[in-house]
Amino acid sequence: MIYNQWYVILESKELKRNKPLRVKRINEDLALWRNEKGGVCCIADTCRHRGVSLSCGKIVSGQLECPFHGFLYNESGEVTLIPANGKNSPVPKTMKVNSFKTYEAYGFIFIWWGDEGKESKEPFFFKELAEFSYSSFKDHWNVHYSRAIENQLDVVHLPFVHKTTIGRGNKTLVNGPVVVREDELITFYVDNAVDDGNALPLKPEDIKDYEKLFHLQFHFPNIWQNFISDKIRAFAAFVPVDEENTIIYIRYYQKMINVPLLKELMNYIGKLSSIIILRQDKRVVITQLPKKSQLKGGEHLIMGDRPIVEYRKHRQELIDNSIL
Ligand code: FES
Ligand SMILES: [Fe+2]
Repeated sequence: MIYNQWYVILESKELKRNKPLRVKRINEDLALWRNEKGGVCCIADTCRHRGVSLSCGKIVSGQLECPFHGFLYNESGEVTLIPANGKNSPVPKTMKVNSFKTYEAYGFIFIWWGDEGKESKEPFFFKELAEFSYSSFKDHWNVHYSRAIENQLDVVHLPFVHKTTIGRGNKTLVNGPVVVREDELITFYVDNAVDDGNALPLKPEDIKDYEKLFHLQFHFPNIWQNFISDKIRAFAAFVPVDEENTIIYIRYYQKMINVPLLKELMNYIGKLSSIIILRQDKRVVITQLPKKSQLKGGEHLIMGDRPIVEYRKHRQELIDNSIL
């Protein structure tokens, strides 16, 4: 995982107003709840007293009460009350668990996984999607999140994995692809073709007017969008659970139809087709070994894998820089 980043970890609707939630994300067991204003609080889930899961407790005046002996935690992870010691007793400063800064927008909850004070004011998002409506679903994959991301950067797999859906037409020849990275944003342009046996794939530099091609974008550390058309996008957030597990949130966004009911129907159909496509990917990707991708992992990559190479290189740069 890349340190010092904002990560999408949940959809907003998963965290209800009156009930704490336990999730494992970024290799940490987390307790989340909403304070009195509805703001998202996130602290380590293990009680500092005797190790109980805090998320099994309840919310009291916007703070989280441990279910075992009632210690009360604020959103900074500090114990504010030890009932057995009485309200008049001070609480030792060491009575504290880790806390995580949160940000909620676009129907997602983000946490800052990094050093305090190093965070940008808000996480990056594809802001233009605010004009679209969407449907969503999530799926669990038994792989490191890097494998799930690379699958969505992989233009070589389309005619094989998605032969019956988005990879129809037997376009096995992969021209380019052209990969453009601006800071943490990678855009890649796809130009797959039928192989008539007479041509070699075009090198990226030989592809003219590549901006007009079908393209996709990935933004570090974990979000992606596919420009299906001006008015339709597929979106994914790849949420790291631990070294071998990932939750993928998929959204189907569209702004073609805005009429109630028809809009919901279209979003529902979009969601179903996304589920079918993602299941085609999952069947194959969960068999990849090792479960985590590496920049120098001994795999024999080809020209068509350029988006994956670019992802691995920049990911490694970010990891190296974040631990300096
Ligand atoms: S274990 Fe949490 S208060 Fe005792
Ligand atoms: Fe795929």
